[in-house]
Amino acid sequence: MSEVGPADAAGQDVGPANAARMYDYYLGGSANFAVDRALADRAIAVRPALPAIARANRAFLNRVVAHLVGCGVDQFLDLGSGIPTVGNVHEVAARSTPDARVVYVDREPVAVAYAQELLRGHDRATVVHADLRDSDRVCRDAAELLDFSRPVALLAVAALHFLPDADDPAGVLARYRGALTPGSYLALSHGTGDHQPVGAGIGTALYQQSTSPITLRTHAEVTALFDGFQVLDPGVVFTSAWRPDLPGPHDRLAARPEQAGFYAGLARLGPG
Ligand SMILES: C[S@@+](CC[C@H](N)C(=O)[O-])C[C@H]1O[C@@H](n2cnc3c(N)ncnc32)[C@H](O)[C@@H]1O
Repeated sequence: MSEVGPADAAGQDVGPANAARMYDYYLGGSANFAVDRALADRAIAVRPALPAIARANRAFLNRVVAHLVGCGVDQFLDLGSGIPTVGNVHEVAARSTPDARVVYVDREPVAVAYAQELLRGHDRATVVHADLRDSDRVCRDAAELLDFSRPVALLAVAALHFLPDADDPAGVLARYRGALTPGSYLALSHGTGDHQPVGAGIGTALYQQSTSPITLRTHAEVTALFDGFQVLDPGVVFTSAWRPDLPGPHDRLAARPEQAGFYAGLARLGPG
């Protein structure tokens, strides 16, 4: 069967809806096509909180990066970095550490093209067009900018639910962990079906029609992704409940954090 998909306004074939571009649409961005907006609107119809969920996730990313910089981290490897939007990792980090180095990784060509454009002329941030499952290649390319003999913050924010169980996301993270030195960190967020309304399941099912089906995971399953790291307070919690005391963007879901639909956590790699 032909894989040729619908065309965008310029007549370019853009294929099926894509999760990176749908997420951009939820956040109010313009790097999305009609096919993405159509599926995203159907998802919003059954799960009206989706734009708020995306903003809560992005707010977590901003808070955790600012916090890590405060902990002395100045190197970031951002897996599944997405289409650049407000508060990109290198921008948040540079507010207090202008020398911070950031490597973005994404497999979606539109995300990579926008990141390349944004980073043109930057010598401390770059983007690698790769599948995050290919940890050897990602680490090899990232090593051109990052020094893996010093602590690195590995970010996998709203990315690993795009890996089915067959792809063994914990195994993928374990391979990255093997490349990190003690004192490094892992920050991640991940979609869950725990405590979610019925619409959440229907919305997730719609992603089967995109290039990136979603696998929601339970609290125990998300916690297991941190294996080998020491999870820091407050543990694995909904994004809105993750360190609301920290400065940085916050969201309107704080009163009912379970509405954020994504678990989040930060962990540190200890010695041995
Ligand atoms: C929902 S966006 C999250 C963007 C950003 N991390 C954030 O939280 O704001 C998920 C991103 O992960 C990317 N992604 C999904 N699976 C991937 C894979 N196997 N390798 C690389 N990128 C992947 C998608 O292309 C998309 O840009």
